[in-house]
Amino acid sequence: MAFKEGFTWGVATSSYQIEGAAYEGGKGLSIWDMFCKQPGKVYGGHTGEVACDHYHLFKDDIKLMKEMGIQAYRFSISWARILPEGTGRVNEKGLNFYSELVNELIANGIEPYVTMFHWDLPYELYKKGGWMNPESPRWFEEYAAVVTAELSDRVQYFITLNEPQCFVGLGHIDGIHAPGLKQSVADTLQMAHHILLAHGRGVKAIRNHAKQEVKVGYAPTASMHYPETDCPQDIKAAKKALFQMPKDLSSNWAWNISWWSDPVFFGKYPEDGIELFGDLMPKIQEGDMEIISQPLDFLGQNIYNGLEVREGKDGEPEFIPRHKGFPKTALGWPITPKALYWGPKFLYERYKKPIYITENGLSCHDVISLDGKVHDPNRIDFLHRYLKELKRTAADGIDIAGYFQWSFMDNFEWHSGYEDRFGLVFVDYQTQKRIVKDSGHWYKEVMETNGKFL
Ligand code: FCB
Repeated sequence: MAFKEGFTWGVATSSYQIEGAAYEGGKGLSIWDMFCKQPGKVYGGHTGEVACDHYHLFKDDIKLMKEMGIQAYRFSISWARILPEGTGRVNEKGLNFYSELVNELIANGIEPYVTMFHWDLPYELYKKGGWMNPESPRWFEEYAAVVTAELSDRVQYFITLNEPQCFVGLGHIDGIHAPGLKQSVADTLQMAHHILLAHGRGVKAIRNHAKQEVKVGYAPTASMHYPETDCPQDIKAAKKALFQMPKDLSSNWAWNISWWSDPVFFGKYPEDGIELFGDLMPKIQEGDMEIISQPLDFLGQNIYNGLEVREGKDGEPEFIPRHKGFPKTALGWPITPKALYWGPKFLYERYKKPIYITENGLSCHDVISLDGKVHDPNRIDFLHRYLKELKRTAADGIDIAGYFQWSFMDNFEWHSGYEDRFGLVFVDYQTQKRIVKDSGHWYKEVMETNGKFL
């Protein structure tokens, strides 16, 4: 037994990265609309104003998904398209867009997986302090309720937040993503607390407004550490490294699992983090941890790579430096297939929830060849190696419910603009023409055979 029967094979995207139509259909501005206007922030001065023009081309895109044999589609909703001011007034045109998108998916036999928040916070809310505002969990609750009321008669799968590690870490600590801030540790910790509360209130709102039985999850990320060898000492060290908090505050503290997932699944912050942060800890009101730890149906985890770990001489985890010439993607991310074996295993052992890999993939230097096709052997090789490892973990009895490849098509890769191509489908941004890459054809076979040949 490897991938179970009914395993979900899908692809993922997010609103700002593909939709375009930034100023159309009554949409309000988001922090990404504003961030891209600042010179020097995004590669080549690129913006998501047009992106893949999916807002207008969604029917063609879904037709293509069907041809590619895609069974499930994870996409996100642009909050500012639904609530242009972030709260209050609902933009019916925005709701209609997603409603039609869902209808089209269902008509083509593709299961929708809706992510409520993939980083494009309404700018009007940012002006009120964004996630620093203690009201922000309520804002998210209101928004999640509106989306759920509209879509849940047809949508069964909802994900609250995508990668808090990134939108807090890159957006509010390193400042390289919108809104481009470099906040203090105390402020980001308070913000993280609000974000976790927003997740919890979001889960409540989804369940309260759902028109059918729904499945609700969460999609964090992080580096998935894996052991150098299969000896018990290294395995123990890798697992410890995966869940421990940083030892000091000099690095980006947000890049970890426990701070973001322990409160959600266990209702408490990790002890080593509490000790590390000391008097910088956020204010926790009575009842907060109950709100944050609403029962979830699954854990979504975005997994791209990890670090190799062994047990050091002192018995503590030791990170192994990458050797010279270590394989890497076009974006320079390390290629570490074992992250997809050990990551889900360690996560499942700790959190005991069915796991969806909600994102995994890579950027390549894709070009249209003389024959008019896009040959991307590196992507096929990468996905093959990673999926083999995921299959091994599933064969070990780890409850893996599905896998979403990032991404359906090339798109706006945040501060890298259109420089990096992550898609199974090539997008010519001059003409908006789509070409299914070799990897797209290969992935079709994976899905059709439930990964049998991997
Ligand atoms: C993840 C993001 C996604 C995309 C991929 C490459 O961190 O969730 O939007 O940018 O990386």
